[in-house]
Amino acid sequence: MRLFIRLSKSLIPYWLPLVLGIIAMLLFTISNVALVYMVQPVLKTLFNPESGTIQAVRAERQEEIQTGDFIAKWRAKIQSALDPIVYKDTRLRTLANFCILLIIIMFSKNFFLYCQTVLTSVALQGIMNDFRKRLFGHIHKLPLSFFHKRRAGEIISRIISDVQTMQGSISVSVADLVRDPLTILIYYFFLLFIDWKLTLIITTILPIVVFLLDRIGKHLRRYSTRSQERMADSVSVLQETVSGIRVVKAFDMVGFELKRFTKYADEYLRNILKTIRVRRLAGPFNEVIATAIAVAILWFAGRRIIAGGGLPPESFMQYVIVLFLIMQPVKMFSDKFARINTGLAAAERVFDLLDTPTTIFSKPDAIPARNFNDSIRFDNVGFRYEGSDEPALKGIDLIIPKGEIVALVGPSGAGKSTLADMIPRFYDPTEGRVLLDNVDLRDLDLSDLRSLMGIVTQEVILFNDTVRANIAYGHTDWPEKEIIWAAEAANALYFIRKLPDGLDTVIGDRGVKLSGGERQRIAIARAILKNPEILIFDEATSSLDTESERLVQEAIDNLMVGRTAVVIAHRLSTIIRAHKIVVLSDGVIVEAGRHEELIAAGGLYKSLHEKQMGA
Ligand SMILES: Nc1ncnc2c1ncn2[C@@H]1O[C@H](COP(=O)(O)OP(=O)(O)O)[C@@H](O)[C@H]1O
Ligand SMILES: [Mg+2]
Repeated sequence: MRLFIRLSKSLIPYWLPLVLGIIAMLLFTISNVALVYMVQPVLKTLFNPESGTIQAVRAERQEEIQTGDFIAKWRAKIQSALDPIVYKDTRLRTLANFCILLIIIMFSKNFFLYCQTVLTSVALQGIMNDFRKRLFGHIHKLPLSFFHKRRAGEIISRIISDVQTMQGSISVSVADLVRDPLTILIYYFFLLFIDWKLTLIITTILPIVVFLLDRIGKHLRRYSTRSQERMADSVSVLQETVSGIRVVKAFDMVGFELKRFTKYADEYLRNILKTIRVRRLAGPFNEVIATAIAVAILWFAGRRIIAGGGLPPESFMQYVIVLFLIMQPVKMFSDKFARINTGLAAAERVFDLLDTPTTIFSKPDAIPARNFNDSIRFDNVGFRYEGSDEPALKGIDLIIPKGEIVALVGPSGAGKSTLADMIPRFYDPTEGRVLLDNVDLRDLDLSDLRSLMGIVTQEVILFNDTVRANIAYGHTDWPEKEIIWAAEAANALYFIRKLPDGLDTVIGDRGVKLSGGERQRIAIARAILKNPEILIFDEATSSLDTESERLVQEAIDNLMVGRTAVVIAHRLSTIIRAHKIVVLSDGVIVEAGRHEELIAAGGLYKSLHEKQMGA
């Protein structure tokens, strides 16, 4: 219920199209009723020479009002109000009038139906779009740890398919829960209006029909959900094997993957066949029900007609038509409860994601951080990853003065990346604090803080766009001169010039059309163009071959001149120039100093250095 209220809240901005849509639907239903109402006068005028003129009809009504029972009186009164619209003074004129009325009603009926569909879609698609944008915005505020815990596919499916499924419950919740009952009510009143006794008899049969329809629906739902799940499983196997095709081939695992795929595909087959068996049952079943109702009408109405004093033929026709009209919304209504359920399940997952707390954000009274003047300081910093027993960092005290290059070295898993990730607040320390110019990072404006930094990591993320757009990332109006200058400083201009369209070459998904070193140099050009106060390099060169590494290293050296930098490099040759070398092991600082000092000290650094020299 709480979920339902939350969902309904998302409708508020769209109340106008929603309300208009419901009104349009009601007008559509009323047009339908008007159309059916016409059946009776038309038949009467054509086949009864005594009737069909306004004078004749008036006399008839007068008689009904005097002799009829209570309900018949009311019916005659309402009808006599409508008569002047329907009947004219000769039968021929009345007939002409029918033709005009039919055209008007048909036109308005379809007009309202169209309005209803468009208005509801405007609201519905708008709501879905709002949810997608809210989810996208929220996901990007979530801490990195959130992304380690989930597969990318899961997050993406939340945004795309859950929102889609949610649409089911929203469309139902708004429009239909109000609309269908109203439609049913209007038709039902019309049935009562034509023949209330017959209607009450049929009403007693209806719950049985709805119950049976619901049973069939439940089975259908269960099997179709299962087959959807299996289909999703087989698609994910397909996706995994296609994107990992090299590994599948190299390990000759086609047979293994085929078995996995076959399992899901066969389960899908079984479930879809069950679905079909139940669904195909629904057709004959519906016909049986329709026949049962028809037989009931035939019996009850027919008995009275034979006894004399039942419905006149034109009213009988009217009645049967309305009954068919009412079946449609009744059937849809039971169907909709099913969609509400799957939709609500999806909505729950969407809200779950929207409710995931953002742990790293700017405080409302955050201090702006436009400049970096003095130093970055780690003050007894400890950090433990969520769900991990061992802390990744313990008691880190470190000062990075402005304008200096600090190198972090140590064995793999020592905590170098974790330490570097604390500076742009990818993670907040679980103990101690990190300060920028003596202010705790958590008190600074997050977006200011990050705009002070340029980060280049081993894993370069490029977007499927032009080289120019990738260097200028997010700024469409950088002057060409500066982009070229940045590319040159990054040692990238030479290869960019050789690309088919130079700076305007589209580099493919994640930059697949470039080599590792080329991608790396574009990332460096991006950092150079941003011109940040503080630079962070996390193994920016470690995946490169020697030639690329030399070019990238040169680029990095160009970039670091006169800046504050934190460099993690696994090749020690690049570190010798650093003002300070910090040696980490198992999350603690074991040594710090200049290259010569650390060599002289003969500790971990010396042995790391010797290992590499020997290699
Ligand atoms: N997302 C994570 N969740 C849990 N533990 C992690 C995560 N990332 C790294 N670790 C652990 O933290 C420790 C330090 O990792 P890291 O900082 O990446 O080391 P380095 O960069 O020095 O190789 C390692 O023991 C690693 O297993
Ligand atoms: Mg690392």
